[in-house]
Amino acid sequence: MGSFSVLPPVARRLEGKVALITGGASGIGAATANLFSKHGAKVVIADMQDELGHSVCKELNSPSTTFVHCDVAKETDVENAVNHAVSMYGKLDIMYNNAGISGESQYNIPDNTQADFEQVIRVNLVGAFLGTKHAARVMIPARKGSIINTASISSIMGGTAPHGYTCSKHAMAGLMKNTAVELGHFGIRSGATLLAYGVAVLVLCWSASADASVIAVVLCSIGGVMQL
Ligand SMILES: NC(=O)c1ccc[n+]([C@@H]2O[C@H](COP(=O)([O-])OP(=O)(O)OC[C@H]3O[C@@H](n4cnc5c(N)ncnc54)[C@H](O)[C@@H]3O)[C@@H](O)[C@H]2O)c1
Repeated sequence: MGSFSVLPPVARRLEGKVALITGGASGIGAATANLFSKHGAKVVIADMQDELGHSVCKELNSPSTTFVHCDVAKETDVENAVNHAVSMYGKLDIMYNNAGISGESQYNIPDNTQADFEQVIRVNLVGAFLGTKHAARVMIPARKGSIINTASISSIMGGTAPHGYTCSKHAMAGLMKNTAVELGHFGIRSGATLLAYGVAVLVLCWSASADASVIAVVLCSIGGVMQL
């Protein structure tokens, strides 16, 4: 029922597109899955929370929305999620690297543990790297696609989050800039939404040839303050 769209066909900006959303079982990812679906996209939700992921799919249009278990820090899981999207729907147009964790709420570096720091880096940064890598694997031959990362105010500022989180989101911006340069040659867009407390405040970067439709939908879905 959730996917029933009152939007007229002409307003459905993602009709015929296939999107994979990591961390799509809750929060921003689930809201994006809902809106992408309303805009006509086929959506694959990739998350570690199986029950929640399946229930989001059920609320949306089941045949057009599927769940795949995925720990974004594991390459085989991410590879499998991308392959799942292609085998279910024939292609991948949009990769949304959204899964993320903040780690322990520990702002004093002497009290930070290496284990927590590394886990945040694994999920937020390695996860985005693996998502980008495997999306590029199928997008390069197609010579099109959009790769979106959920960045943060912590991608450009210090002092707003624990160290692991700030480092991961700064590095994510570097990954996005590098891949924007590299993959733009293949007609693949790479960008990031910059969020602060759940609100999109900026599109950090968007490589050449953008038609802005995808990013506009992302921004709408997270209650963003701007629309391109
Ligand atoms: N909420 C905010 O104010 C805010 C601000 C800036 C950036 N962000 C970013 O937005 C993204 C989504 O955050 P949210 O607020 O919706 O949080 P959330 O906790 O509601 O959603 C995160 C989702 O990621 C999933 N996830 C966590 N680890 C995973 C893993 N290893 N593999 C696969 N999935 C995993 C969780 O199961 C969950 O469904 C994150 O990248 C976060 O850093 C959020």
